[in-house]
Amino acid sequence: SKKLLLDVDCGVDDAQAIMLAVAAPGTKIMGITCVHGNTTVENVCKNTLRVLQACNKLEVPVFKGAAKPILGNNINAGHFHGEDGLGDAPDPDAPGLDLLQKEDAVSAMIRIVNENPGEISLVATAPLTNLALAVRMDPSLPSKLRALYVMGGNTESRGNTTVCGEFNFTADPEAAYIVLNDYDCPTYLACWEFTCYSKLSWEFCDAWLSQDSAKARFMSRIFHHSRAISQSEGFEQVFISGGGLVSCDSYAMAAAVDDSFVVESDRYPVSVELTGTHTRGMMVVDTVGFLKKAHKAFIIRKVDMEKFEQMMMAALK
Ligand code: BDR
Ligand code: CA
Repeated sequence: SKKLLLDVDCGVDDAQAIMLAVAAPGTKIMGITCVHGNTTVENVCKNTLRVLQACNKLEVPVFKGAAKPILGNNINAGHFHGEDGLGDAPDPDAPGLDLLQKEDAVSAMIRIVNENPGEISLVATAPLTNLALAVRMDPSLPSKLRALYVMGGNTESRGNTTVCGEFNFTADPEAAYIVLNDYDCPTYLACWEFTCYSKLSWEFCDAWLSQDSAKARFMSRIFHHSRAISQSEGFEQVFISGGGLVSCDSYAMAAAVDDSFVVESDRYPVSVELTGTHTRGMMVVDTVGFLKKAHKAFIIRKVDMEKFEQMMMAALK
């Protein structure tokens, strides 16, 4: 079976992605490492345990990672995901943080990859701080991965957090830079604009959430807040023309669980802007070859949407 290691900042779409992976046949989640991002790293740990509880999967080990980016301060996405990162819809019987592993996320990442050389697909749906710290501690780490899947960055300098910056890259541009430049393994990027173009309809969303299952009821509760924002006129006009469900992190996860999910991709060297007046955190795509970089990432352009609907449906069954 496929071995996945997930790195999350468990907001609502991370939750959707985790649930997709749990439901995917033939995959084993070796661990989930948590990092600051949509909310504090403590909330991210709590949210991840709640999602696993909703899936009856609390045996998956969860590790706490970096609380802050490499440089500067946290930004968060509480306005969108809810202050607690999961729609401010608490569970009375939520698992306690005593269920966290004692080992830190970066050590766990290095250990798990080294114990399974060539086998781990690392799926990062969050600011890349843990991944950057891990490669500094163990420079051989990328060469031991099967592949890396990242939700983050952008291809048309269209931001969702700053003028030109996507959230995960903008929340830690230095970490994104380190990862895009030092992870020389097969790298698949689900960038912001691609996820918007690959939206699901609200009709699908209704059918998805109205499945008669505990998982669907859990998702309905945590999704209430950000769905309302996503369906507000302002949001649809600015981000998603025509509106629809954009579960950003689920695209990176689906690519990791099913090799035939990605139908079209571009291969270019990529990097991240660190200093611009308006562009810090923006992904840079080197279509001409100026960066003189041998390593090229797969920039996902088109995916099998029928498969995506099936995987999403199965996630809440
Ligand atoms: C990314 O930012 C976060 O808010 C989401 O969870 C996703 O990982 C989208 O830009
Ligand atoms: Ca995320």
